Amino acid sequence: MDRKPIIAVDGVSGSGKSTIARTLARKYGLTYIDTGAMYRALTYYAMQEHYLQEGEFFKNLLIADLNKIEIGFDAQGHTLLNGQDVETEIRSMDVSQNVSLVSSVPEVRQAMVLLQRSISRQNGIAMDGRDIGTVVFPDADVKLFIVSDPRVRARRRCDELKAKGVEVDFEQVLDNITSRDYMDTHRETSPLVKAPDAIEIDNSTLTLTQQEEEIDRIVAEKLKKY
Ligand code: DC
Repeated sequence: MDRKPIIAVDGVSGSGKSTIARTLARKYGLTYIDTGAMYRALTYYAMQEHYLQEGEFFKNLLIADLNKIEIGFDAQGHTLLNGQDVETEIRSMDVSQNVSLVSSVPEVRQAMVLLQRSISRQNGIAMDGRDIGTVVFPDADVKLFIVSDPRVRARRRCDELKAKGVEVDFEQVLDNITSRDYMDTHRETSPLVKAPDAIEIDNSTLTLTQQEEEIDRIVAEKLKKY
């Protein structure tokens, strides 16, 4: 292959897409982009500006601000919102609970897709999200679609947060995961669907090593023909 590949990793919330995309980026020397972080940063912005409060979302105010909001990543991969590191803030439960509302707005998606496409392709990209293989890069060289049982995902998320010293309620995490699954798959603009040429991996019963081996095999096979 005379250029570096574009690898799209889509799938349901909390299925480990970012770990997969990050590992592939390291392995193949690609730029890693977490598109969920971009929607989270916009959600955090809307909350800070009080465009989202008590279940009401003043989406037109956010749309009007879109051209003055800068989203990017620093060298460590931390998310930057207008130059400020918001990596910790965007992972909060509050942001997780509001992000589906923000990411379902067509104008928001349009702006994010343009931004995602404009990020240099020269270095090759491993990008994770919901619409990467279907909308952002329909011509991606490799498309993976990651699924996993909701209870397994909720348990993993609780364990991750616990390891960071954050105590959370399992049922609340499960509820957030299932409602985001519903909203991601039922929104009108670019809902979460598997691209016809994506390879589905269900990691509910796989260890990290098993998953890595399976993905390595799939990606190596896909890239062989280039
Ligand atoms: O991957 P994540 O859980 O951090 O994503 C946060 C939310 O953003 C998720 O609920 C759906 C939305 N999202 C999206 O609509 N399209 C993407 N490409 C990435 C994320």
